[in-house]
Amino acid sequence: MQPKLIIHGGAGSSLKGKGGVEAVRRSLHEIVAQIYTQLAAGLSATEAVVRGCQLLEDEPRFNAGTGSVLQSDGQIRMSAALMDGNLQRFSGVINVARIKNPIMLAQYLQTSEDRVLSDYGAMELVRELGLPSYDPLTEIRLQEWLQEREGNFSREMAGVIAEAELIDTARRGTIGVVALDMQGRIAAGTSTGGKGFERIGRVSDSAMPAGNYATAQAGVSCTGIGEDIINECLAARIVIRVADGMPLAAAFEKSMQEAQQNQRDLGAIGLDATGAIAWGKTSEVLLAAYHTGEAIGDTLEWQNGALTGSLLG
Ligand code: GLY
Repeated sequence: MQPKLIIHGGAGSSLKGKGGVEAVRRSLHEIVAQIYTQLAAGLSATEAVVRGCQLLEDEPRFNAGTGSVLQSDGQIRMSAALMDGNLQRFSGVINVARIKNPIMLAQYLQTSEDRVLSDYGAMELVRELGLPSYDPLTEIRLQEWLQEREGNFSREMAGVIAEAELIDTARRGTIGVVALDMQGRIAAGTSTGGKGFERIGRVSDSAMPAGNYATAQAGVSCTGIGEDIINECLAARIVIRVADGMPLAAAFEKSMQEAQQNQRDLGAIGLDATGAIAWGKTSEVLLAAYHTGEAIGDTLEWQNGALTGSLLG
């Protein structure tokens, strides 16, 4: 079967600065091309999702891994999840610190009896696995936090993109990958530094089935305000609609219409077992790129008022 791939680097309000948009496009296209080549060579969907998430976590302009936003106390705590659609198995970590690639913990937990670990337990796992201590802080995220501290953390969320010319009000950051491999297996992964400036202990949607979900029929990764995504239970909602027989594009359209009616601020990417690819957003922009097997495309300048876009398999 022809593999398919879609990735995202967040959603938010409009990107300013054309140079910045081009830099984001270059990053997303490079990662989608690199991972697609591996999928086309026979890599499994789950492994492709882990590798794609690692590359996106390592890209400092996105809010996950290196370049994660700071919480209200000035600390970085990250969350990530991996779902193997074929096995219908979810694993994840919540509010883990001092690690380079939180998605690797989610991958390790796939075969563990206890599959979602939070803060203290997740840190214990980091020590057990002997993973090196790593500081994901970047200068621009520190400056963003210092500015916010002056304003007593009144902004709703940190910037989706860590680039001075792109920082706008109320941006939402997360990264995600959804893959369909040559054997028709689907996997989804999502990783985030959270919404930024949040209370200690706040739990992101990214390590919940609301933000990341997959079955044998479809997979979805979400971005946006975690509370909005949780209220819609968005990833599971779209995937279950497809599992119940609705085409992927229709499942995205219905779910995004509902999210818009409920005044949510979010975005999502997904694909299904027929090879269809879809994306949707209620926020202004969605930073996503996909590979159909023939071509690479993206949603960076897609602002035509439509809630969703899709390609048939
Ligand atoms: N969607 C990322 C978060 O709200 O934590």
